[in-house]
This record gives sequence, structure tokens and C-alpha cells, in this order.
Amino acid sequence: MQEVTLDLRGTDKPRAYVELDEHVRAVLSGVDDPIAAMATLSCLVHHAFGFLWTGFYRVVEHNLLRVGPYQGALGCLEIPFGKGVCGTAAAERRAVIVPDVSQFPGHIACDGRSQSEIVLPVFGPSLDLIAVFDVDSDRLDKFDTADERGLARILDWFAQPEK
Ligand code: SME
Repeated sequence: MQEVTLDLRGTDKPRAYVELDEHVRAVLSGVDDPIAAMATLSCLVHHAFGFLWTGFYRVVEHNLLRVGPYQGALGCLEIPFGKGVCGTAAAERRAVIVPDVSQFPGHIACDGRSQSEIVLPVFGPSLDLIAVFDVDSDRLDKFDTADERGLARILDWFAQPEK
């Protein structure tokens, strides 16, 4: 196990995500516990890029998300499907990139410093939606398709039947 957090802020995004993916897989080697993986992944992604808030909202019952492991200031506890960015990503089972949260109707402002965000669906081994992964930045327009691709590859850990 490689017990360090990487700082990838000086590395270009595609390269940074390759390094981060390799690091996450090394740290999670031998781990078969989704909550432990969510906590570890939140920590590694958060510190690699210096984000404002990084974490999971888990699907806990039909059409309801509840906060899971995260890094950052206090997150709201529950989000119904269809509400805010997280609820939209969950309901539509797709990644949502928001360059300016003030322009997203229904955005849930847990931290007033948040300016842009990306939320990705997280699928389990049966390709069922188990969570969404929410990353917030205090800068406008921080996320693009390179983040979507890089984070989706890392989140694929949850869909793998064999860890
Ligand atoms: N930004 C989210 C709410 C969760 S917090 O930002 C941690 C949203 O609008 O879905």
C-alpha cells in the first residue's frame, strides 16, 4: 500500500488522471469494501487537485441520495433524485458538468464558495446506480471532459466484480 496523497496540481489533466488512477488502484489493492473505497477515493482526488468539496452521495432508497464519505465543509445530508446537480446526475444516470453553479436552476449551495462542479454516476457490479460522485471547485469553469473521462475511469473500480 502506498500511503501518500499525490499533489497533481502542476500536472496536465490527462497525465494527472492516469497517475491518480494508478495510485488509487495501488492503494485499494486487496480492498473489497465500497465505503472504504469511497473514503479513500474522496481523500485522494480531493488532495490531488485541491478541490473545495469531494465526495459521494449514496443511493439509499428509491430516488433518494444520502451523503457518504467526503472531504470538505459540511455537506447536506440528503438529496432527492432530480434536485440540484447531484439529483440530476442520479435521475439521468449521466455526468453533469456545471461551469457556473449560479446558472444551474435548483443548485443546492452547501458551501457558498462553490463556483463550478462536476457530478458523475457511480455504478456497481450489476451496473446498478449505487452513488454519485460530486466534486466542487471555488473557481468558475474548473471541469471539462478530461475530468469526466479521468474520474469515470477511477470510479469504474466500483463496477469491477473482481477487486
Ligand atoms: N452541489 C450539490 C449539493 C451537494 S454539495 O455541494 C456538497 C448539488 O447541487 O447537487
